[in-house]
Amino acid sequence: MTNTLTLIRPDDWHLHLRDGDMLRGIAPETARDFGRAIIMPNLVPPVVTAADARGYRDRIMAALPTDADFKPLMTLYLTETTDPADVVAAHAEGLISAVKLYPAGATTNSDSGVRDTVNVMPVLEAMADAGIPLCIHGEVTDSAVDIFDREAVFINTVLDPLRRRLPELKVISEHITTQEGVDYVMSARENLAATITTHHLIINRNHILVGGIKPHYYCLPVAKREHHRLALRAAATSGDPRFFLGTDSAPHSDPNKESACGCAGVFSATNTLSCLAHVFEDEGALDILEAFTSKNGPAYYGLPLNTTTITLQKQANPVRFPAHIETGEGKVTVFDPGFPLHWRVI
Ligand code: NCD
Ligand code: ZN
Repeated sequence: MTNTLTLIRPDDWHLHLRDGDMLRGIAPETARDFGRAIIMPNLVPPVVTAADARGYRDRIMAALPTDADFKPLMTLYLTETTDPADVVAAHAEGLISAVKLYPAGATTNSDSGVRDTVNVMPVLEAMADAGIPLCIHGEVTDSAVDIFDREAVFINTVLDPLRRRLPELKVISEHITTQEGVDYVMSARENLAATITTHHLIINRNHILVGGIKPHYYCLPVAKREHHRLALRAAATSGDPRFFLGTDSAPHSDPNKESACGCAGVFSATNTLSCLAHVFEDEGALDILEAFTSKNGPAYYGLPLNTTTITLQKQANPVRFPAHIETGEGKVTVFDPGFPLHWRVI
């Protein structure tokens, strides 16, 4: 039996760090175990210009523990008025690593997102020319489409047409939650990869809805049926380089989650690597974990691997994680996988 596991220091290819007191409260939770993270730009107001990204990066750096071995990889929030020249210049100077497309209204703070990709073609063409990756929140927002079908419909009506129109654009289909999402990535010959969250490998929609409503399991895209969860586990543990970790760790204070209209988001930064080691061990795939957390992402983004390592150790007694992280904006509940965790980053 394997009891220790040393991995190249992981990266998180989709993370919400927020701003202000929340940022200061939760940034150490990621910086402890991760070398880099793609930082989501959905602040209020969003991170739209290079100047916004520079300011946000500096606030993140100021919020990190002084000894942190962590680099934020900044993104810009794509709007229908984004200036292609600003995006290209921000990437050329190394300020941003990607651009994020939110369909308008799809999720938390996405009101200034894209209504029709036709309206952002000049930006996307400039990105394709410059080799700038596009991260996509892949859900349609049409109220006539059932929330559990929104990812599959997005693939057929938005993502596939966009990729056919601009095959040179490097795309990341973020936080995929369905068999259709897995199949679509596997069908692509090039310029498509996907991130998978920790929680979507562990929960299905029953976790949210059976035995009382569980707001801390509600996120977007919402967890789907069990067969979708199994498809995600198969993809993540396959070693296929097109799948890698993006935790989508997305903190909201407990009052904002435990509400008549609760926010979407699961906060998993604190125990993500313990959860993943558990999942990969369950699947008999501990030897694949490093590819998922530390190798496939940098390879797709064209970045070097991290040069340091972390070690996980399996202990007989369950690891005790805090139930909440205290922040200046209130308590944030840590993802509860529903089973004891025995792997610990030492
Ligand atoms: C994210 C958030 O809270 O910012 N929430 C979520 O459920 N994942 C937004 C997002 O990435 O969709
Ligand atoms: Zn997210």
